[in-house]
Amino acid sequence: MQTTVTQRPADRVEADALIVHAFTGVPRAGGPTGDVDRALGGLISALAERGDLKTDVGAVTVLFPRDGVAATRVLVVGLGDPRKVDAEAVRRASGEAARKARDLGAQRVATVIHAAGIGDLAPSEAARATVEGARLGLYRYRPSVADGVGAADGVAATVDHGVDELILVETDGERVEAVSDGVRWGEATADGVELARDLVNLPPNVATPTHLANVAEGLAREHGFTVTIGDRAWAEAREMGAFLAVAQGAGHDPRFIVLEHDPTRGKEAPVVLVGKGVTFDSGGVSIKGRAGMEAMKSDMAGAAAVLGAMRTLGRLRSPRRVVALVPATENMLDAHAYRPADVLRASNGLTIEVISTDAEGRLLLADALVYAQKLKPKSVVDLATLTGACVVALGRGTAAGRFANDDALAARVDAAAAATHERVWPLPLWPEYLDDLASDVADMKNSSGKPYGGAPVAAAFLQRFVDYPWVHLDIAGMALRDDTRGYQAKGATGFGVRLLVHWVTHG
Ligand code: BES
Ligand code: MN
Ligand code: ZN
Repeated sequence: MQTTVTQRPADRVEADALIVHAFTGVPRAGGPTGDVDRALGGLISALAERGDLKTDVGAVTVLFPRDGVAATRVLVVGLGDPRKVDAEAVRRASGEAARKARDLGAQRVATVIHAAGIGDLAPSEAARATVEGARLGLYRYRPSVADGVGAADGVAATVDHGVDELILVETDGERVEAVSDGVRWGEATADGVELARDLVNLPPNVATPTHLANVAEGLAREHGFTVTIGDRAWAEAREMGAFLAVAQGAGHDPRFIVLEHDPTRGKEAPVVLVGKGVTFDSGGVSIKGRAGMEAMKSDMAGAAAVLGAMRTLGRLRSPRRVVALVPATENMLDAHAYRPADVLRASNGLTIEVISTDAEGRLLLADALVYAQKLKPKSVVDLATLTGACVVALGRGTAAGRFANDDALAARVDAAAAATHERVWPLPLWPEYLDDLASDVADMKNSSGKPYGGAPVAAAFLQRFVDYPWVHLDIAGMALRDDTRGYQAKGATGFGVRLLVHWVTHG
């Protein structure tokens, strides 16, 4: 799908569907919607006055006007209370309306820029949210042997949005530049989220560590990043005993991916993004139950978010130095697999007694967090589908657990989460949680073996490998969803891409 900007008045734009907006408690349509309303002889206002227009955020009313406007259909989408309208409302409304247009068979979809200049939304922000909402609402995972499943490399298959063109209507010549800038940001952001969703949606026999590495190499080619792909021998040379232990029983070879975007040529300390890349988590010898195990193809959602964010930052030509680290392996069980009671040595020398081979994420993250130390980072954010306990604590699809050892960094990550509606909620990093990991035979156990405090205990484990400002996001409940709504699609969410991009570009 291609996105363009037109300065034609909304009622003159030729399209299969023209999307305009409606607010709660505002009977007379204003702005470009008002133009369309007038062209339709006041039809939209009349509907609003009679209370026949749905104005809840994302509610769509379809009109088939005989004449008056150049478009075949007019879709009026609700944006709710005009005093409360924000980027999230715009994204949701835009996603719903675009999907409705596609369902009606529209190929050329025109949209006014929702809420531009209304409330606190600047035209560029409104345009960005409109594009993000439409692109992500139209996203669908379309596996095909030709361009997706089966093709081991390349970045991602191009997403089939089912719509040829998205046309943004902006008649005010002075705003066109801001709108075009918003389009650029929206497109770059959607590119990143789509990559992350595709990677999580791909089956685990395709989205292998090698596949993730190929994607990283594709991104490096496309955006001039530097990339290092570490294999087993590379990790052995760096004494990554924790990462390697998880990889021991894996059929697909592990990869440790280092992807760097450095427009500063080494002048700036990097921000580092770390993503858990377990391409399938069977639990290992501490095997999971059979019910629902297929969801564990999403155990690389942190890795997908980090790669997606790099794609967006590359597209945006971000001036910041950013390094992405992805320790990628499956967690499987065979005769070589690591086992409960094994004692491992991580790359910082700490020894770990394995209690559960299903507490594997913290092991590979440990070596990645130690690797980050060598980069002398300004700050590090890791994303990991780390604990079922975090899902129990905060719910599914609601918020990621946010742990931080630095208040200023935490505040910036929280601000990014609020701006993107990729919600996080603070959980504690108190030292007492480490007591549960005391081991008789090593520096630490990898699991308490108790059903209490799983998310903060895991975070406390990770903190032992960190000596810089750091935020850990436990995204276990956020990787997959069951329904399509707003700009979210059933399956992979791409959670974290927008948050990371916002944090890197605003922080
Ligand atoms: N990948 C899982 C966590 C997970 C659970 C992600 C549900 C998404 C949905 C992780 O590797 C895991 O198995 N964690 C264990 C830790 C325990 C053994 C200490 C868990 O949460 O049960
Ligand atoms: Mn596990
Ligand atoms: Zn896992």
